[in-house]
Amino acid sequence: MILPIYTYGQGVLRKVAEDIDETYPQLPELIENMWETLAKSEGIGLAAPQVGLSIRLVVIDLDVISEDLPEYKGFRRVFINPYIEEYDDTETDLMEEGCLSLPGLHEKVRRPTRIRVTYQDEHFQEHDEWVTGYLARVMQHEFDHLDGKVFTDRLVGLRRQLVKNKLTDIQRGRFSCSYKVKVHH
Ligand code: NI
Repeated sequence: MILPIYTYGQGVLRKVAEDIDETYPQLPELIENMWETLAKSEGIGLAAPQVGLSIRLVVIDLDVISEDLPEYKGFRRVFINPYIEEYDDTETDLMEEGCLSLPGLHEKVRRPTRIRVTYQDEHFQEHDEWVTGYLARVMQHEFDHLDGKVFTDRLVGLRRQLVKNKLTDIQRGRFSCSYKVKVHH
């Protein structure tokens, strides 16, 4: 089932999401619905708050970009209760990001290139690993959603000022996109 994407202005995008465990109701169906919603909207990552649920659950599909980045061939993973434990601040890079909850908005965001993350997979197996490259960027973007942050919060100075009007437009529903959304009223 395709779920509507909650767009900027919806309160759920500003909440700190809660951990879940195996008893979370209908979790396999929810994960399946998130995969379907992600594919339909042609995104690479989707966090549960973007479908209106304040829980620590993220799906990331990097297989869709594996023509450009072959190391991610077949990479489709579920992250449950993920946390960024450490940022290696010795190196950062600047890369353009977009977000299904911020339709039409694309800005370059500076982020560390290497992070240590802990999470559980869909079988609730524990993971603790250092991650680099494009995956590290996507994880930072998606896991930020679980802490009530969106990528424009990471902009500084003039760029941050310049996106304000665009954010207001999104909040008021003045945008168009090809997927189903739920706008704040
Ligand atoms: Ni996003």
